[in-house]
Amino acid sequence: MKIEIKRYTTEPEERSALITYEIDEKAQTLLEALNYIKTKLDPSLSFSSGCRSSVCGSCAVLVNGKETLACSHKIKEGDVIEPLKNMPILRDLVVDSQVAYEFNKKAKAWQSSHAKTQTLTIEDEKRNEVQSDCILCSSCFSACPVYSVNGSFLGPFALTRVWRYVSDARESEEQSKIENIQTNGIWDCTLCNECTIACPQGISSKGDIEKLRSKSAMHGFMDPNFAQSFGGGFSGGFGFDGSPAF
Ligand code: SF4
Ligand code: SF4
Ligand code: FES
Repeated sequence: MKIEIKRYTTEPEERSALITYEIDEKAQTLLEALNYIKTKLDPSLSFSSGCRSSVCGSCAVLVNGKETLACSHKIKEGDVIEPLKNMPILRDLVVDSQVAYEFNKKAKAWQSSHAKTQTLTIEDEKRNEVQSDCILCSSCFSACPVYSVNGSFLGPFALTRVWRYVSDARESEEQSKIENIQTNGIWDCTLCNECTIACPQGISSKGDIEKLRSKSAMHGFMDPNFAQSFGGGFSGGFGFDGSPAF
């Protein structure tokens, strides 16, 4: 069976060549095929992996243009393998995921240090159970089309994490967390749903962004594009009285 892999090197003339490899028929998953190539055919091939069981999120790549975990993909004749998008390529299939993780910091996607002490009900836990399953694979970040026009967009998994914490009954800084995602955040999403399709964990960042928009309205913020249609010129969220909300 033959597959193609986009190879990137530090040599400019070879930067984006698709190389064809003949794979051992015993290889079932893409990760097994990559390991076969590295150990038997070409030790210079670079890729990331860890758990081999869809838990660590480190092996995400593009297969035929779609974000996929290499350890869970059943390899097929003619598959084309490329690195994830929207992050710098370090070598071959290895990208600099740190670029994506930095958005968690910018979005303040964590529980505040003054969290309330209270017992959670089953309903409380269910509210953000799915979002807690994120394995930080960056597939949604790769799939999001907004980065081609706005490299500062907080993005799908950072915003999903913000929802994870502002929907937590123990969170004590909901207002400031919501305020922080008004610019380059929830209103810049086009609701295209590509992040949901790409997620191997069944998380809908698009759905979480819609919930954050509703919560923003409850906190007195509104879509700046909507505000502009009433004569505003401010690029962040607006208070309902027409003045900038922060
Ligand atoms: S729904 Fe929003 S966050 Fe998700 S991929 Fe589309 S633009 Fe990006
Ligand atoms: S939300 Fe889904 S696609 Fe995005 S990083 Fe988490 S697990 Fe990966
Ligand atoms: S190797 Fe951990 S998710 Fe694939």
